[in-house]
Amino acid sequence: MTASHRIVLIVSGGIAAYKSLELIRRLRERGVAVRCVLTKGGAEFVTPLSLAALSEDKVYTDLFSLTDEFEMGHIQLSRQADLIVVAPASADILAKMTAGLADDIATTVLLATDKPVMVAPAMNVRMWDHPATQDNLATLKRRGVRVIGPDEGPMACGEFGYGRLSEPETIAAAILDALKKDTAPKRPLLAGRSALVTSGPTHEPIDPVRYIANRSSGKQGHAIAAALAAQGAQVTLVSGPTRLDDPAGVETIRVESAQEMLDACRKVLPVDVAVFAAAVADWRVEQAADSKLKKQDGSAPPTLSLTENPDILKTVSSAPKDRPALVVGFAAETGSVVEKAIAKRGRKGCDWIVANDVSTGSGTFGGEDNQVHLITPEGAEEWPRLSKAEVAERLADRIAAHFASETDKPVLIQKG
Ligand code: C5P
Repeated sequence: MTASHRIVLIVSGGIAAYKSLELIRRLRERGVAVRCVLTKGGAEFVTPLSLAALSEDKVYTDLFSLTDEFEMGHIQLSRQADLIVVAPASADILAKMTAGLADDIATTVLLATDKPVMVAPAMNVRMWDHPATQDNLATLKRRGVRVIGPDEGPMACGEFGYGRLSEPETIAAAILDALKKDTAPKRPLLAGRSALVTSGPTHEPIDPVRYIANRSSGKQGHAIAAALAAQGAQVTLVSGPTRLDDPAGVETIRVESAQEMLDACRKVLPVDVAVFAAAVADWRVEQAADSKLKKQDGSAPPTLSLTENPDILKTVSSAPKDRPALVVGFAAETGSVVEKAIAKRGRKGCDWIVANDVSTGSGTFGGEDNQVHLITPEGAEEWPRLSKAEVAERLADRIAAHFASETDKPVLIQKG
């Protein structure tokens, strides 16, 4: 089953580097193709020749080697594997990964990859216990890096404690397990669930030809609707005016104003989950004119009197009947994003908030990327900068996991 699996094994510096040779053998025995990257530190302990002999492949050691770059660039190297494994992972490479440094081929591959990453740390016990290393590990784990070991025992330096590289057999088993999980066909985890998503801006009429609007592109909301549908949910997207195509497999209702958006949402309820990603206008013109306002020579420009729009998120969150089991809001903030989003979660009465800092340039209206925090009752999670499609997939995965963990709650509303 594993003949088609390929990993990139990064061997960093440390006495335990010799164990990487055994690890390669164990993986090859199980049919996993191994392509090695050897750091400068690692090369003090094992030779490129031994890695090449065991992996029966070229070993990458130099970021600026013209031959290497010609044959396979570091970006390609980082993408053509199913998994990137760092074993042994020194305190130094863990710190570089945490900081996002890319000063050699190993760290460049790690920063450029879009594949899962596993590390097997090995170092002196005091280096392992140091708060810097522990903080780095915590950050890497939060970013989804899998950590194997280290084990406890006597060390090459004469000390005793945690820091020994896990046994090659244990690392190989963890790699096989990860490969199986990562390549297992995904079950549509939201099959049988219904979802409502709002997206885009709203247009608030001034007269039949003019309106108040904002710059929302609808990209994030549309991507969320598509991601929930890809997970098997029955999705209704209520969208303000956008240039985007209706997402495939999603029932899309197009509206113009906030009031129309609220009315459409009410008709879609009940649903299991509602995600409010639309940038709804806070105000509308109190009395939109029935006919086009005319400019008249010598007369003053018209004064627009505004009134507040309904808050759709708040209305649905506090609905006495038909409140979705999970309500997710969005918060575009500048400065103290997490604090403001936590407060907003309370004010709006929703369950989760996806918050982004619109002052950083990421998450600005119309852009392709988003850097968000997910605020839940359990706390705030910082997500890495991702494309809007990736944010949507990750959110859909979290929603699916939420419902999977709620299976003891027997009554979940399903659209008939
Ligand atoms: O209050 P603020 O506009 O920052 O709140 C943002 C969140 O509230 C988003 O989820 C947005 O879709 C939702 N919202 C809404 N109706 C409004 C204003 C905001 O649903 N009138």
